[in-house]
Formats: sequence, C-alpha cells, structure tokens
Amino acid sequence: MAGTDPRFATYVPHPAERLASVAVTVVEASGDDVPALAVMQARARGGTADEWADRIHRTRQGERTLVITAKVSGEPVGYANVAFLPAHPVDRAPAGYYLTGVTVDPVWRRRGIGKLLTRRRMDWVWERDPVVRCFVSARNRASLDLHRGLGFKRVAAGASFQGVEFTGGEGLLLRADAPRS
Ligand SMILES: CC(C)(COP(=O)(O)OP(=O)(O)OC[C@H]1O[C@@H](n2cnc3c(N)ncnc32)[C@H](O)[C@@H]1OP(=O)(O)O)[C@@H](O)C(=O)NCCC(=O)NCCS
Repeated sequence: MAGTDPRFATYVPHPAERLASVAVTVVEASGDDVPALAVMQARARGGTADEWADRIHRTRQGERTLVITAKVSGEPVGYANVAFLPAHPVDRAPAGYYLTGVTVDPVWRRRGIGKLLTRRRMDWVWERDPVVRCFVSARNRASLDLHRGLGFKRVAAGASFQGVEFTGGEGLLLRADAPRS
C-alpha cells in the first residue's frame, strides 16, 4: 500500500506456509535484558539503541507500568509494555492502562509471539482495571488484526491519541473489556 510505514510488518493475512512454533517464555524484562531489547527495537523501529535503552529504563521505573520480553533459548526476541496514562488534554484519549510498543524481531514473526505478549499484558491490566486500551495506525493492518483477534474493538479514529501521531494521519483507539466472571 502506498505510504505504508516500513516499520510495520508486511500485511499477509493468509500466508502460504505456516512457520513452526517455537518454545517461547514471556517474562518481565530485567535490567540485564535492556541492552539486547534496545538493539532489537532500534533495528525494528528506528532510532538508536542508546535512545531505546533510555526509554526502556524509564518505562521500567514508572509506577504503573509493565515491561515484558519474549525469549527463545534465553535470548530476547520480543518486547512490549503497558503504561497507565492520564486523560490527554488535547486529543482527549481517556485515562487508563495502554498497551504500547509491541515489537517482535522480524526473524521471529508470525509464530504467535506478538499474540503471547499481548495476551499477557491484557491479563496484567485486567487484574487492575476492567478496561485495557491501545492505539494503532490505521495503516498497520498486521497490528490491527493481532489486536482484533484478541477481542479489541474500535472506539474512535483520530489524528493522535495520547499525543502520538500516526503514519498516514489516522490512528484507531481500541479497547478490550475484561471477561465477566
Ligand atoms: C505486529 C507484530 C508485533 C506481530 O507480531 P507476531 O509475533 O508476528 O504476531 P503473531 O504471530 O502473534 O500473529 C497473531 C495474529 O496477528 C495477525 N498478524 C500478525 N502479523 C501479520 C501480518 N504480517 N499480516 C497479517 N496479519 C498478521 C494475524 O491475525 C496473526 O494470526 P495468524 O498468524 O493466526 O494469522 C509484529 O509484526 C511487529 O513487531 N511489527 C512491527 C512493530 C509494530 O507494528 N508493532 C505494533 C505497534 S501498534
């Protein structure tokens, strides 16, 4: 699609072949994980590893935040976090827990790792709040399918949510409600 951000995965809804699944562990990221995660993020999403290391350290130190990593044979192959954000004064995105930053190393994509990282964070939020939110560029179709497949529904469309502007000018605010017990 013209104008698609190269940082997004190429959209392939029905791959001709399925990759073998791998043994993955999902754990809270430790300080020791940060350098490898920073390199992975810089490679997959741009910016420098130093910038990412600062960002990941700051998120880990936040009060209502979670930083997790997916590992294969002890090596980080995926990264994701959660942050509690106040209501945004300009774009009016509501206060609450937001899933942010999910990235799977390109070599390890399409083996269910993004799904695992997202499911883990949804459960973490639901232990604290009945609503979990995220925002996604309208052009990031792989991410939209990932989140929709886990029960996220569109709440609004806009040029920015929580101050984040989107490739192509439009993003979607999504939410998923905790299952009723
Ligand atoms: C989005 C991303 C995290 C998905 O990670 P992943 O480990 O490849 O995803 P999974 O294997 O768990 O896929 C789960 C579902 O998401 C959807 N999906 C994932 N990648 C897709 C792709 N390239 N094309 C179409 N659908 C895709 C599919 O519905 C998939 O289910 P299926 O494999 O049964 O068809 C990964 O592509 C990535 O790191 N992208 C770059 C960073 C990014 O855009 N992050 C999201 C920011 S909001």
